[in-house]
Amino acid sequence: MTTRVLPVDPLDPEPDAIAAAAGVLRAGGLVAFPTETVYGLGAAALDAGAVERIFLAKGRPATNPVIVHVADLSQLEQVVDVWPESAARLARRFWPGPLSLVLPRRPEVPDVVTAGGATVAVRMPAHPVAAALIRAAGVPIAAPSANRSLRISPTTAEHVLTTLADRIELVLDGGSCPRGIESTVLDLTTDPPTLLRPGLITASELSEILGTRIQLAESGREKRPEPVRSPGLSTRHYAPLAPVECVESSGAARVRQLLAAGHRVGWMGWEGTERVGHGQVEAVAMPRDPAAYALRLYAVLHRFDECGVERIIVEMPPDTEPWRAVRDRLQRAASPA
Ligand code: TXA
Ligand code: MG
Repeated sequence: MTTRVLPVDPLDPEPDAIAAAAGVLRAGGLVAFPTETVYGLGAAALDAGAVERIFLAKGRPATNPVIVHVADLSQLEQVVDVWPESAARLARRFWPGPLSLVLPRRPEVPDVVTAGGATVAVRMPAHPVAAALIRAAGVPIAAPSANRSLRISPTTAEHVLTTLADRIELVLDGGSCPRGIESTVLDLTTDPPTLLRPGLITASELSEILGTRIQLAESGREKRPEPVRSPGLSTRHYAPLAPVECVESSGAARVRQLLAAGHRVGWMGWEGTERVGHGQVEAVAMPRDPAAYALRLYAVLHRFDECGVERIIVEMPPDTEPWRAVRDRLQRAASPA
């Protein structure tokens, strides 16, 4: 299958392109589309066969459930069985936007979407292309990030094609995603609610709206084998091709050492710090603001993949709440396969 690429205006998507993409989804096909976080790989959520194709295209384990995307509250009612006041409050404050809520599912939601579990993750994306596409499709859309399993999430249409070309029907190319990392995932079926995946909406912001404490899921090494609470929690989920080392201070000494050993090195350092080495080092000066950092993160990792660096050295941001989501993605990138 040849993947079609349709350019769209990210702020005011052309109705023809949206209608074509919605037609593919309604016919059970796969469409990659931009959201404010990363590109999603969409299929009609209530069509089990269509969602199974997402898992095949991505090489995603069946134990990892996918997020269902809705355009309005009536679509929400098709997938969610219970809509507590806590969810309503969070939705009023953060939707449309980069927050996914885990809630009891309706029986109509196919098992493949929820990995057989009793809950479903839902979110209402803010990106005009995503919103227009879901509305035109007229059905809720299941969409994980549009990358092969274990590879870096895509923030451009080119990134999508790097791993999914000829595996999906269509890509809507709406340019770069404006936020750059995946949504915050909050489980509202536990008491207190559990932060399953940190994102740019922080636990304190959620906690403030809810007026309750939020517990943090133990990142990585989950003890329970089955069912997996949120497989995005498993390590090595967003990894570039080269091994990543995170350093809590300057990376200069380690970079010099690797260069001396003859390696090509990718170095994510900070803006305004002095760099060493030339030629064999691909040095990137990262911004000192979490939102700006998140926006660049995956593009830089994709670039390291493209230029074939053999090692990646990352100078870690501070261990404080505003940086939690970025640190989480960097630590996953660094965990051994
Ligand atoms: O920003 C995003 O969330 C992007 C865009 C496309 O919306 N999507 C995304 O999907 O990152 P994916 O499949 O790469 O990550 C979904 C995360 C995983 O960590 C998964 O385990 C968790 O959400 N998840 C999905 N359904 C769940 C459920 N019922 N219970 C617990 N975790 C769930
Ligand atoms: Mg993903």
